[in-house]
Parts: sequence; structure tokens; C-alpha cells
Amino acid sequence: MSLRTAGSVLVVFLWSVAVVLGQDGWSVTYTNQSICALKGSTVELTCSFRYPSGHKVTSTFWFTKIETEDLGQDPEYAGRLEYHGDKKKDCTLRITDLRERDSATYKFRFITDQEGGTFTGKLGVPLSVTVLQVKVTGGHQDKTLTCSTTCTLTDNPTYIWYKNGQHINKPTSHQYSVNSYYSDSYSCAVKGHEDLHSPAVCVVGESCMNVTYTHQSICALKGSTVDISCFYTHPSWHNVTEVSWFNKWESGVTKDLSLNPEYADRVEYHRQTEKDSTLRITDLRESDSTEYKFRFTTDKARWGYSFPGTSLAVTGSQVEVTPKWSSEYKTLSCSTTCTLTDNPIYIWYKNGQHLDESTSPQYKDPVSSNYEDSYSCTVKGHEDLHSPAVCVQGQSCNRVTYTKRRICVLKGSTVDISCTYVGYYYATSSFWFRSDKSTPEDLTTDPGYAGRVEYTGTYRGPFTLRITDLREEDSAEYRFTFKANNIEWGHSFPGTTLSVTGLQVKVTPAAEGQKTLTCITTCTLTDNPTYIWYKNGQQLDEPTSQQHSSNMLVVWDSTVDIYSCAVEGHEALHSPVVCFQVEVTPKHYSKYKTLTCSTTCILTGNPTYTWYKNGQIETVKTSTYSVYPDAVDSYSCAVKGHEDLHSPAVCVQGQSCNRVNYNKMRTCVLKGSTVDISCTVGYYYITSTFWFRSDKSTPEDLTRDPGYAGRVKYTGTYEGPFTLRITDLREEDSAEYRFTFKTDNFDWGHSFPGTTLSVTGLQVKVTPAAEGQKTLTCITTCTLTDNPTYIWYKNGQNVQGVSSPMYSISSENADSYFCAVKGHLSSAAVCEYSTIVQYST
Ligand SMILES: *[C@@H]1O[C@H](CO)[C@@H](O)[C@H](O)[C@H]1NC(C)=O
Ligand SMILES: *[C@@H]1O[C@H](CO)[C@@H](O)[C@H](O)[C@H]1NC(C)=O
Ligand SMILES: *[C@@H]1O[C@H](CO)[C@@H](O)[C@H](O)[C@H]1NC(C)=O
Repeated sequence: MSLRTAGSVLVVFLWSVAVVLGQDGWSVTYTNQSICALKGSTVELTCSFRYPSGHKVTSTFWFTKIETEDLGQDPEYAGRLEYHGDKKKDCTLRITDLRERDSATYKFRFITDQEGGTFTGKLGVPLSVTVLQVKVTGGHQDKTLTCSTTCTLTDNPTYIWYKNGQHINKPTSHQYSVNSYYSDSYSCAVKGHEDLHSPAVCVVGESCMNVTYTHQSICALKGSTVDISCFYTHPSWHNVTEVSWFNKWESGVTKDLSLNPEYADRVEYHRQTEKDSTLRITDLRESDSTEYKFRFTTDKARWGYSFPGTSLAVTGSQVEVTPKWSSEYKTLSCSTTCTLTDNPIYIWYKNGQHLDESTSPQYKDPVSSNYEDSYSCTVKGHEDLHSPAVCVQGQSCNRVTYTKRRICVLKGSTVDISCTYVGYYYATSSFWFRSDKSTPEDLTTDPGYAGRVEYTGTYRGPFTLRITDLREEDSAEYRFTFKANNIEWGHSFPGTTLSVTGLQVKVTPAAEGQKTLTCITTCTLTDNPTYIWYKNGQQLDEPTSQQHSSNMLVVWDSTVDIYSCAVEGHEALHSPVVCFQVEVTPKHYSKYKTLTCSTTCILTGNPTYTWYKNGQIETVKTSTYSVYPDAVDSYSCAVKGHEDLHSPAVCVQGQSCNRVNYNKMRTCVLKGSTVDISCTVGYYYITSTFWFRSDKSTPEDLTRDPGYAGRVKYTGTYEGPFTLRITDLREEDSAEYRFTFKTDNFDWGHSFPGTTLSVTGLQVKVTPAAEGQKTLTCITTCTLTDNPTYIWYKNGQNVQGVSSPMYSISSENADSYFCAVKGHLSSAAVCEYSTIVQYST
């Protein structure tokens, strides 16, 4: 306290000295006599100056040691000095991001246009830069923590204390007493500068809670992926039970980012060691710009949420053309709202063509104001996130703007990729191409797309590329190019990246007796799809789970239930109904391989496994299997009692092996109709093939079976699927059908399960419903494949508007009813019901 009083006295004294110096009309007045500031903070040295009239100030500057060394030229201060002076009266200097080395006495000097017109404010402002440090003193039991600095902070600050990263509400003094402290770390800060808190210190020993972020701030491009990471420590006798990243903590509740729908599917946690964590956010949006924090919990303590985390700023890129007004030459710069982290290399495009001479955010030279030219910029590694192409002059330069940068769609569906072309001249020709071809090749001439691509579009309207019946190998970046009067749009301008994905069900354990099913895709489907779930082939009623349209479903354990998922509007493209999967490790070539049978359906108990090698049962019964594979061998697995749900046969070494994969495990069709049972075969030099029923003691070619005379037909080659067609189906055709083949020196096994066919009739079941009502149900002995549409007939007349297997009627009327399935109207499998209960088949 006494020191501070002395300081105030000093103020008055120094103030008067400054004025005395100025008696002859020359003066420099510093408002602050001495400043003690925190490292990392910003300080303002307020200053004003006077000189006799008739002088004109020609230069002004600040220095610390030598009068002639302008701080503005010192690289140590580069980007940190702001001189607010006006060359008339004001000489205030602002220093940002203070460093300890900045401690010095700062003096101002100015020079005028007259002889001898130079003056220095000799006293200057002594600046001390300090850091906060927690010092621990005291005995064995009670410890005193002191928040210490090397100079006395100006302005009598309020102190703030943190225990394990959590702000403690009470104390506001620079000292704090603690008595239980093992494993705890403490830190202090001054109010208003919470971001400049002291390093955390352990009260005892060197092993306590701490979190250190790799970056204080990160600036990243919209659409890109960012990694925010930190290291953490805790006493060795603690076990970490939870780690979490979050961006909201005001209410004292920190909600894990992965639970935030805005980040759903965009966040992942990674770690390299036991003591670090990385938050990865993909497909960054501008709304992701905020501060992210990490916290962890051990079995004994928890890290708080008050320490500053990492601030993320997300920016787009934009080509700025200056001057705005008409001028022969223009300067281009690639502007972002924050300075991109890690000094990226800039990339420039002119009329869609990459120009590699310029790699900085300013285009190398001013460019001539040509009405035809457009420019775009981005940074290396993020070519797809380039800025919109902008005209150097006017608005009608040659530009291509893609509607979407990325699209993720389902295998088998149709996609429209579009762009708009605005040009100075009409385009005379245009085409779409894949960027991974060495030379741009018009897609309509690519045999891989034969019959699957279509172009539409006109000038100023969007140009659209439509690809139908999408395949995984269509995943690529597609670009548009055009020719117009002596200009061709460049081929290096990034277009739209298309990802084609299938659907897969992943099973993870949930609470006791429950499992979580996730419908996974390899990319995030565009347009927020609504998911649909099927259990044993039957669509589940909505809501499918707590979250409407979720890609997750929590289910109870059961003996065996098979789930599959689909996306609304694309029901036919549902995930394959596979129950088991063979995982092969290592992936690369290796003499020995380990096969693991993983399950994607719900299984309980302690199952016995069944392994198939080349379609033949092996003796191994465990879930893992070590093999010494041959390149032509395939393996498949299942669980005893559920052999029909076996995994697809996989090649263990390479991609081309002897294998058979059936398109369906089960199929249920109507009596009298026709069924196609098919499979694909992996190896090429097949000499003979046939289909057989698994219930015959020895495999017998169906075409020789008198029971099928005139009703079976085989088609297929190794390129397309092999198909068994059975017409005029009878109930006794219900059986499991298998395919087998021979090559010169190989016989596909006969024990590999094939497709189980169930043939059913239709029956109308009548159940009493509400008063005076009855419910008619069109029943089958198995669940008909392909979600059939039901049709009801009343007195031989088609009933409009009913397409479900259930139908409500009034029980009073003496009407007769029968049901049928769309597409099988002419089949015999219809059933009639009259109000006097009567069944017929
Ligand atoms: C400088 O002095 C002014 C006026 O007394 C005061 O408001 C300001 O906080 C001081 N600046 C610093 C950095 O101490
Ligand atoms: C906590 O981390 C900070 C930043 O890395 C470091 O300066 C400090 O010494 C650490 N404290 C402890 C107790 O490990
Ligand atoms: C902590 O982890 C170790 C090693 O995994 C384990 O042996 C110990 O039982 C765990 N302690 C507690 C309290 O869970």
C-alpha cells in the first residue's frame, strides 16, 4: 500500500517535469510513468507532444536504446506495434502480444522541417513485462499459494484462482490457502486477462492434473478438416475414465460434441499415446468458429472447463480485386477473414487453369483488366475449397460455378452434378470429364459409363451431368469444360467430388442386454437422409428410435435377429442382409493370415463357429482361424445353427479366388410365380456348373430332376451372375438351393449354404376388431421378399386405396373378399373370404 502511495506522488512530480521541459514550446508528455503488464497482453503508451508554430513535423518514432533506431524497423516488433500518432499532437503507441524482452524504457522522438527541429521525450515510459507464477510455501499440512509477478501490476488487479483447470469462485486476493491437495494443480490469473493465467503447478510433487493445448488459435478453411489437440497429465495412481471435447460450458454443463446434432458425423477423437487427445472436425462450417475445450475425468478427480482452450476460426477464401474502379491494371489478393495457420502455399487459377508462378496470397503482378478473364484462389492441399471465380473487370467474364463441391450418394441411385457457366461469349461446345484421367475425356464416350450418363443444360441455366445406376467406382471428381470464341475453360479447376457409398449395419454393445446398430456409409450422405430399419426383412414402425430418422437403433439381444437399413426414397438400396463377416489380418501379403468371424447381427450365448474353405466345412470351431492360404482359396464363416446367415466368401490372398456369393440368403415367393435365384462366382476357368437342392443326399443337377421337368432354366457366365430360374412354383419347391462348379483341377464344395426358397400361398385371416368391425389379414407362410403391395377385392371388384396386408371391414355385410399381391394378379395364389367364414386357396 505504501508503495502505491509513493507511486502516486511520483506521478505528479514527473508530470510537472514534462511540462517544465516544454517551456520553450517543445514538449513530449507521457501519461503513464511506468507500466507493469502481463506477457501476452496489449499495452498503450499514451503520449502527446508540442512544438512551436511554424514547424511542420516530418518524422516521428519511438525507440528504446539508441535515438536513431526506430522500433518500427525492428523485426522483434514486426506486426506488434500500432502507432496511433497523427504527426501533430498525438504520439500514443500500442504494443500487442507483449514479450518479456519488451521490458525497456520507451521514448518518443520527432523531427520537423526546420533547422534544429528535433526533440526527444527523454524520460520515456519504463515498461516491465511479467508473467504470473504460483509459488507454494508452508508446512506439511497447510500450504499457501501466492500469485507472484516480477513487478507490481498497475491498476490493483483482482486475482482469480483455478484448481484443476476449474475457476474457484471465492478468493480474489493474490494469496490462497489449501489443506487437501494431493494430485491437485493450481493456477492464477488477473481479472480481465483470464487467457494469460499462470502455468498450473502441483501443490506437492510433480504429478498432478494438467492440460496443454497445441494451439491457442487455429484458422482453417471452410469445408476442410481441422485437428485440435492437447496433451494432459494426471497423477500416476489415477485411471482416466472419460475424455471429452466440447464448446459450451456457460451453464457449468459440458456436453460432448459428438452429442451435438450440428456436429453429428463430423467429429472424431483420436489419440497417439495415453496422454493426448485430438478432436478432428471435418467439413468445417463458418458456424464452427468458436472455442473448443478438452476435459478428462479420472477415477479420483476431474479437469475443469475454465482454462482457455483452442479458438477456431473458419474462413472462406475470396479473390479481392483492387482498385474497384476502372483501371488498366488490377491487383489480386486471396483474402481470408483470419490468417491461415501453418503458412500455406497459395494456388491461383486463371480461367480455370492453374498458374503455378504465384504461391503467395497476393497474385505476383497486377493483371490487365480484361473483361473475359476470371481468377480464383485457394491453398495447396485444399484445391477443392477454392474461392469462387471472380471477374477482373465487369460481371460477364468466363466463369464456372459448381452447385456443390461434394456429393455423397447411394450405390445404385442417380445423381445430378451441376454447374453454371456465365461467359463473355456463348459456349460452342462443352463436356464433363473425370479429373483422374490423364487427359480430359468426354464421359459420354467412356465405355465405363455407357448408357448411364446424360448431359442437359443451356447457357446461364445450369449444365447438369446425370449418372444413373451409380457404382462405387464412379467415385471421382467431375469437372466441366467448355469452348467459346477463342477461349477454352481450363481443365485444372476443381469440380464436384462424388462419393458413392453402400449401406452397412454395424453392431456395438450398448447397455446390459442391448446392442446399438448403426447404419454406416463411407461418406456423409448429402441432404440429411431419413433412415429406415428392417428387422428380419420387415420394416420397423416409426419412430425407429429416440431420434427420428436416426441412423442408430438400440435393440434387445435375441437369439438371432437380422437387421438391415435403408434410406427413405431409396428403399430398394438397403444394406445387404449379412450376419457374419470374415476379417483378414494382416491386409498386406503374408504367408500366414488370421481370419476373424465378426458378426453384424444380434447374437446371444456362446456360439460355436463354422468355417468354410472353398465351400467345404472345416473342422475349426472358434471365432478366429489361422490359415496358410493359397491365392485361389476363399473362406466364409457362420455360427452353428445359423449356417444360412454365413458371411460372404472372401479371398484371403489377393482378389481373385474360387468363390460363390449368393445374391440372397432367403427368398419368399408366391405359389405359381417364377423365381430367380442367383449367385456370382469369382474364378474364371469354369468347366461345368449346376444347381442342386441341399436336401438330396448327393448333389443332383436340377435339370435332371423329374420333379422340375420343364420348369428350370440356368443362365449366366463368369462375368454376370449365374441364375437358376424356376417357373410355376409349387409348395414342395421350398428348399435350399446351392450352386456348384468345377474348374480343371478344382471342385467347389457342396456344404456351402445357398439360397433358401420358401413358396407360399395367400390366405385371408379374419379377426374381430372394434364393435361391428372385422380385420382381414392377407397372410403368407413367410415374409414376401421385396415389400409387396397388396390388393384387395370385394365381390370381385378392386378396392381402391388399400395396399397393406390388413383391411378393416364392417362385419354386417354379406360380401366376399379376396386378396392378391401386385404383379401376381394372375397367379392362383389368391384367397376368398365371405362373411360366413369360408376359406379357399
Ligand atoms: C496509463 O494512464 C492512464 C491514465 O492514468 C490509465 O487510464 C491507463 O490505464 C494507464 N495505462 C497503463 C497501461 O497502465
Ligand atoms: C502444465 O502445462 C503447462 C503448459 O504446458 C506447463 O507450463 C506447466 O508447467 C504444466 N504444469 C504441470 C504441473 O505439469
Ligand atoms: C487402473 O488401471 C490399472 C491398469 O489397467 C488396473 O490394474 C487398476 O485396477 C485400475 N484401478 C482402478 C481403481 O480402476
